Order: sequence, then structure tokens, then C-alpha cells
Amino acid sequence: MVSSLALGASFAVGASALPNPTQYFAGFNNAIVSSTLGGAATCIQGTIPVAASAMNIQLNFPTPANQSVVTETIVEFLQVNTTLPEQVMGGKHNVSGTYNIGAKLCYPTSSGSPNASLIQFLTHGVGFDKSYWDFFSADYSYQNAAALVGYTTLAYDRLGIGASDHPDPIQIVQTPLEIAIGHSLVQMLRNGAVSNTKFQHVIGVGHSLGSELTNAVTAQYPKDFDAAVLTGFSVNTAGQPVFFSSLDLVIARENVPYRFPTLNNGYLISESINGNQFAFFRAQNYLPAILVAAETAKQTFTIGELFTNSMFQSVAKEFTGPIDVVDGENDLPFCQSNCLVPENKAAAVKGALYPNAKASSAVYVAPGAGHGLNLHYVAGEAYRHIFQFLKSNGF
Ligand SMILES: *[C@@H]1O[C@H](CO)[C@@H](O)[C@H](O)[C@H]1NC(C)=O
Ligand SMILES: *[C@@H]1O[C@H](CO)[C@@H](O)[C@H](O)[C@H]1NC(C)=O
Ligand SMILES: *[C@@H]1O[C@H](CO)[C@@H](O)[C@H](O)[C@H]1NC(C)=O
Ligand SMILES: *[C@@H]1O[C@H](CO)[C@@H](O)[C@H](O)[C@H]1NC(C)=O
Repeated sequence: MVSSLALGASFAVGASALPNPTQYFAGFNNAIVSSTLGGAATCIQGTIPVAASAMNIQLNFPTPANQSVVTETIVEFLQVNTTLPEQVMGGKHNVSGTYNIGAKLCYPTSSGSPNASLIQFLTHGVGFDKSYWDFFSADYSYQNAAALVGYTTLAYDRLGIGASDHPDPIQIVQTPLEIAIGHSLVQMLRNGAVSNTKFQHVIGVGHSLGSELTNAVTAQYPKDFDAAVLTGFSVNTAGQPVFFSSLDLVIARENVPYRFPTLNNGYLISESINGNQFAFFRAQNYLPAILVAAETAKQTFTIGELFTNSMFQSVAKEFTGPIDVVDGENDLPFCQSNCLVPENKAAAVKGALYPNAKASSAVYVAPGAGHGLNLHYVAGEAYRHIFQFLKSNGF
């Protein structure tokens, strides 16, 4: 009794000094208060209903009946001079709706509120969900590291992933709609619809497919982001066939029935921990237990994304903010496992896609890391580089 009173008293002192996090629940459904690994940030977690519409591609591709169809599709997709996309891709059609998007907004516990001047908008890639940004322990948590230097962040599950809605994986979960959802969410952050805070500046931060989406937003909506940080990204896609092969995509419902008991067969997932290592890791530059954790938490990829993914490495002519391209030195899909041969592939992005980006743009190649950069020992150094890039640009 005495000790619980004492605890209560000390909690009350802290609580009275800071606003109650529940006052930032606006915009979220089923909101809860949580924190980052390491505890530097207080987080609001829940689902945000996001209205969005886009011109998706009509795909003449039925729901795969079995694994044989899925494997044959990937093999045909990777065939030299394949005609599969032409056979499958039809006209454009308008999809629109309100989609529930799983999200986690985190702000420094020490400041007690989201910082209205700036938020980082974090979009994860293939194989992960929003926990990519707060993974395993404080040493790897981007959201915790960001809070330690004063940043507010929002990580969200892409459509079809994690706590977000799981609509038709062939006609609906496609990249045009994912771009539109990202754009809508950014408008909501700027106009105060999320956490009762009108964020003045939004920094787009992506990983892999999340960087492709971030790049697409800078091209289509050049005012959305004040700066863009593209990790696990380049314009060199020579490593992608090997990357896709290494995933050995299988029907998610059959591979992990206890996690995805009712998912449509158009939701695919990497087959095994060995494929996960092949695609995302470089030994001995990560903790073996983090690969096990990545396999346990692995996430899906859709047939719709397979056929619409290649459409958008976009030249962002009107984007005038700074960009920062950050790659693991041994990234497989975007560097064919060596980002420095025959040239620095991270450094090549600005010339290829960002003719009008600020001269203060930056590049960082993280020694020894694979594609899953945040899960390698050098993650913290990459984060320090990114925060330094932002600070030196006035953010
Ligand atoms: C799709 O249709 C809706 C409703 O008619 C419309 O509001 C929206 O602008 C259209 N979207 C696109 C991308 O054309
Ligand atoms: C898988 O489905 C296809 C298409 O329905 C069918 O032709 C094939 O026989 C099936 N294969 C197996 C191994 O079940
Ligand atoms: C295959 O495509 C490449 C361009 O991607 C082209 O140069 C080549 O001629 C094509 N080969 C055949 C056999 O059509
Ligand atoms: C909010 O962020 C701005 C810019 O990053 C910074 O200058 C300011 O000190 C921050 N405010 C608080 C209360 O942390």
C-alpha cells in the first residue's frame, strides 16, 4: 500500500507537468497510448480513416487457385523480354473509398506534445509493416532515435499490411492507390485532422517500396514534402530479379495460416527465413536474433503491387527541397549487392530523378548493411546521418 502510494505520487508529479496524451487521439479510431522501444517517445496508435481515390490498372488476372500458379507467374514475370505485364495490364479505372490505415504517431516524451513545426512521415517497404521504424530494441528504433533529438514521427502500415484494411489484392492494393493514400494522409497532417496538430513541415522518409512511393509523391505532389529521405533506393534495378527470386513468394494464407487465416490468395509472402536473409541481410553485420524477429513479423506483398510497382521511378522536376539517399552498402534489390560499383548508386539518384533538388542534398552508404538497413548494426549511424542532414537544412 505504502509503495503503491509512493509510486502514484511520483507519477502524478510527472503527469501534472505534461499534457495527457489522450488529447491527441483526434483522427484515430481505437486509439491507445504506447511508446517506442527505449521509451524516448510517447505514441498514439490506432487506425486513421483516409479518403483517397486513384486511377488503378485493371488487371486481367484471376485470384490464383494454388501455389503452382503463383510460382509460374513470378517465373514468367522474370523471363527475358517477358510479355506477361502487357497481357495482364488493361485500362485505368477509378478506385475510391475511405481506407482504415494503421498508424503510430510518436513525439518526444520529454516535450509532452507533438511538435507542430515538423513531422517525419515514415513509409515502410516490402516484407515489413510500420514496425520497421521501431524494431527489436532501442538500438534499431528509428522512431526512438528521432524522439531523442526532438522529432515527431508518424509511421503507418501501407494498404493491405498490418492494421490497415486488406481489400482486393489484385484490383485495389496497387501502387497508384497507395500513392494517393500517402498524399491524403499528408494533407490530414498539415490541416490538423490528426492529433489536433497542424504540422507546418512534413518530411517524407521511405524504405524500399516506401521510398518509391515517397519519390512518386514528390513527383506528383511536389509541395507535400519539405524534404525527402529515400533509404534502400536507387535508379538501378539490376538486382531486382535476384531479389524477387530470393523471396520465393508464396500464398501468405498457406505459409502462415495462424497469422493470415482468411487472406485472399493474391496476398503473397516470402517463403522462409533463408529467403528473408538472402533478400534483406548481410552477415555478420546483424544480430542473428533480429533475423528471427524479422521472419516472425514478415509481411505480405500483392499481385496488384507486382504488376504496378515498376511504373513509378519518377522524375520529380518540380521538387525543390533537399533529398537524402541512404543505402546499405550491400543492398541487393537497388544496388545488386554493391552500391559503390561501378559508381555510387545512391549519389546517382539526384541527377537522374531530382534535377531541381537543393544543392544541400546528401548521400550516405552504410558500411556492410543489406537492404533491411534498419536491422543492421550500422542503423544508428545511418539515423545520425539523416538527422544531421535534416538539421543542416534547417529542419
Ligand atoms: C474518382 O471518382 C470520384 C467519384 O466520382 C472522384 O471524386 C475522383 O476525383 C475520381 N478520382 C480520380 C483519380 O479521377
Ligand atoms: C493449380 O491451378 C491451376 C489453375 O486452376 C490448375 O490448372 C492446376 O492443375 C492446379 N495445380 C495444382 C498442382 O493443383
Ligand atoms: C529484348 O528487349 C531488349 C530491350 O529491353 C531489346 O533490346 C531486345 O532486342 C529484345 N530482344 C528480343 C529477342 O526481342
Ligand atoms: C520543434 O521543432 C523545431 C524545429 O525542428 C525546433 O526548433 C523546436 O525547438 C521544437 N519545439 C519543441 C517544443 O521541441
